[in-house]
Amino acid sequence: MKKALITGVTGQDGSYLTEILVEKGYEVHGIIRRSSSFNTARIDHLYANKEILNKKMFLHYGDLVDTSNLNRLLEKIEPDEIYNLAAQSHVKVSFEVPDYTAQVDALGTLRFLDAIREVGLKKVKFYQASTSELFGKVQEIPQSEKTPFYPRSPYGVAKLYGYWIIVNYREAYNIFACNGILFNHESPRRGETFVTRKITRAAARIVTGLQKNLLLGNLDAKRDWGFAPEYCEGMWRILQHEKADDFLLATGETHTVREFTEKTFAELGIEIEWRGGAEKEKGLIKKIDLEKAKSLINHSGNYKNYHFEFSSEVKKGDEIVGVDPNYYRPTEVELLIGNPAKAEKELGWKAKTKFEELVRLMIKSDMDKVLRRGY
Ligand code: NAP
Ligand code: GDD
Repeated sequence: MKKALITGVTGQDGSYLTEILVEKGYEVHGIIRRSSSFNTARIDHLYANKEILNKKMFLHYGDLVDTSNLNRLLEKIEPDEIYNLAAQSHVKVSFEVPDYTAQVDALGTLRFLDAIREVGLKKVKFYQASTSELFGKVQEIPQSEKTPFYPRSPYGVAKLYGYWIIVNYREAYNIFACNGILFNHESPRRGETFVTRKITRAAARIVTGLQKNLLLGNLDAKRDWGFAPEYCEGMWRILQHEKADDFLLATGETHTVREFTEKTFAELGIEIEWRGGAEKEKGLIKKIDLEKAKSLINHSGNYKNYHFEFSSEVKKGDEIVGVDPNYYRPTEVELLIGNPAKAEKELGWKAKTKFEELVRLMIKSDMDKVLRRGY
């Protein structure tokens, strides 16, 4: 039985990766941080499973800013594979906490690599969660493994250090260390403050009367959005490659935040009309189609034949989307679109879930949550 150690196991990717590796027969060890309230919601279903907890999945307290603890864990577990997913992962927040972001995202990676050397784990394979944010102010369209980097946030700069320290330790000490340069990947488990989940959650709350409107920042930013579980499978494939290397995972399509918003509401039978510009831009309800909303909800599995009505507050002409400049970033990444040809050729990896299906599965899930839990 192979042993994997995952940092960031409580995050979106960590939770999917744990499921994938347990399914493949691994013994999975996850590092969690101490928190004053519960932070394990995404892995609670694994935790509650008596066949998995302490048989296939083991949890350990730890933090990427605590070196002594990393050494102890490596000595105790002696993993075959390490997936370093832990990070202060929010780009906008990194402008508010740049030092902490660097401590975790940049130096956290170095601490781990050094711990591997100190403990003397010669055969371990190391996956680093690198990011399309490295391309920032893009120097080429689409971006590939060869495109020069130009990060545009403290997060991007910290991850740039992470990227290069991986390359350096691979070359200097022959550690099997790999970068996965992953473009945005989303899911129903995406944190609620990232834009896709913020939109699908708000749309579900608006049509049920729990929220009046949705305030966003830059509507014209373009992202290459894929489905998280497929990208986590890609992480595993990167470590199974015969030689340590860096790979980019993306769908090869790009869409604006505005399109994501339109498509989300369209799934719920609401057509948006945009008025005004820049900070004064508004999204108004142009048309409402109750049958379309019913068909989405009735096909969501849990709500077959459910009698859905829009909240009485939802009317034609309502302003349901607005712009709040507080969500703008001091420096923005305007356009990301990846070329995943290398991963396709050498790993046999390809993104299957594209934009429309991704939006649909996320809005279905948030409608389900709102109807089931009422929030
Ligand atoms: P996420 O949902 O924000 O999860 C981040 C994880 O890191 C959480 O488990 C968090 O723990 C943990 N963490 C944060 N600071 C830590 C620290 N000091 N010590 C130990 N653990 C810490 O992020 P994600 O979307 O799953 O992304 C996973 C990784 O891929 C991140 O490194 C991210 O930067 C990178 N990435 C993500 C994407 C994407 O589109 N999702 C794309 C490219 C790269 P808590 O639960 O306690 O907060
Ligand atoms: N979060 C957020 N909230 N973003 C908004 C909003 C808003 O209200 N309005 C517009 N946006 C724009 C942002 O300015 C950005 O251009 C885009 O939506 C995507 O923002 P996020 O969803 O926060 O993701 P990100 O692209 O900045 O970062 C994510 O993807 C990276 C990979 O490219 C994170 O998961 C990073 O950890 C990851 O490395």
